[in-house]
Parts: sequence; structure tokens; C-alpha cells
Amino acid sequence: MDKKFTDVDLISLKDVSFKEFEKFIDSLTIERDTWSLNLNITNDRTNNPTKDFYNTSNALLGIIDGNILGLVQASVRSEPDCLEIKKFLSVKGGNKIVEFSFLVHREYQSRGIGTLFIKKIVLNPNNSADMFIARYYTNNIASHLAFKKNGFLVYGQMEDQFFAGKKITYSSKNDELRYPQPKIIGDKLSYE
Ligand SMILES: CC(C)(COP(=O)(O)OP(=O)(O)OC[C@H]1O[C@@H](n2cnc3c(N)ncnc32)[C@H](O)[C@@H]1OP(=O)(O)O)[C@@H](O)C(=O)NCCC(=O)NCCS
Repeated sequence: MDKKFTDVDLISLKDVSFKEFEKFIDSLTIERDTWSLNLNITNDRTNNPTKDFYNTSNALLGIIDGNILGLVQASVRSEPDCLEIKKFLSVKGGNKIVEFSFLVHREYQSRGIGTLFIKKIVLNPNNSADMFIARYYTNNIASHLAFKKNGFLVYGQMEDQFFAGKKITYSSKNDELRYPQPKIIGDKLSYE
């Protein structure tokens, strides 16, 4: 098995040329099937969704030895969304909820990069989130483990997606007891 990575540099999209970014996006295949959701490159506002994403997204690229291996987005949810999430979780406090979306090129998966992406952003002292959240398909074991290893808990399931989060300023008293966590059973995640 390939060695785990212990570090990855995160750089801004604009630190690479559009051509380089486009080459990376064009090299993706199955990674895009489970890359979440409304944060994927699908907003075709200019007939060139990749260019649109490059121009408007705050995503960061993961770089090792000068190669782009993946990307991570941490997007602040709108205030109405945030109020809804707080209501769902029965928590009070600030209104900064930051949602993750990430992907690692298939040739570099399962070597710790996804886990490092989340860790680096959660531990960045410039991040003032009240809570980090993520949504991923219920069969996405790699995503689930990368969040779990960073202290995220699953707070609910909506159809075929888990809603996971890591509370920063909200109370998380007894969350481990109140929210049963899915387990890996065979090649699936399940509540048993
Ligand atoms: C989700 C994703 C970003 C994870 O990136 P990654 O670099 O492969 O993640 P990690 O290497 O940190 O893996 C996390 C853990 O999952 C484990 N894992 C991965 N696939 C697994 C599987 N099918 N079954 C069991 N464990 C699995 C890894 O071994 C690792 O555990 P370990 O450190 O204890 O060995 C990557 O799989 C990906 O790009 N998927 C497509 C896009 C996507 O689904 N994004 C998430 C939704 S936004």
C-alpha cells in the first residue's frame, strides 16, 4: 500500500493558471459522482462551468510536489440556512456555519489527503466558524471517515445523505449519547 501523506499545501485557485486548473478538472472521472452536491461544478452560467468556478469559488487546491491532487471548499452558509440548521440542531449562538466540500484525485485517495484538508481548515486560527458541516452520500465511507477522524458527528440523515458537523461555539454536551452514529458494516455505512 502507498505511504500516507503527512502534509499537503493548500493554495488559492488563483495561484494556478486557469489552464492548469482546467487540466486537473478534466482529469477527474468517478471522483465527481460523489463530490457534493450543489457545490460541484454544475452552475453553467457562462457555458463554461469550470471557468465560472475558477472565477468565483473560494476553493483551495491541495498541492504536493507541485502537483494538484485535490481541492477543498469551505463555504459560509447563508443566514436563513444557518437559522434553519440551528433550529434542526436545537442550538443557540452565532450565525457562521461553514460547509465543506472536497475531492481527492482517484490516484491519490486513501492516503490521508482528504483528512488533512479538513484538519488544516478546522485548525486554521483565521477560521471563525461557529460550526463546520458536511453532507455526503450514505455509502461514502471515505468521506465519513475523513470527517469522523476530525471529530465530526453525524447529526442526521436526509434521504441518501448524512448531515455531519463539528460544533465549535455551540454546545455539544452529550451529543455522542444523543446521536447514534452509523457504523461500517461490510462495504456500507449503517445504523444497524
Ligand atoms: C472523500 C474523499 C475526498 C476522501 O479523500 P481521501 O484522501 O481518499 O481520504 P483519506 O485518505 O483521508 O481517507 C479517509 C479514511 O477512509 C478510508 N477509506 C477510504 N475508502 C474506504 C472504503 N471504501 N472502505 C473503508 N475505508 C475507506 C481510508 O483508508 C482512510 O482511513 P485510514 O486513514 O484509517 O486508513 C475522496 O474519496 C474523494 O475525492 N471522493 C470523491 C469526491 C467525494 O465523494 N467527496 C466527498 C463529498 S463532498
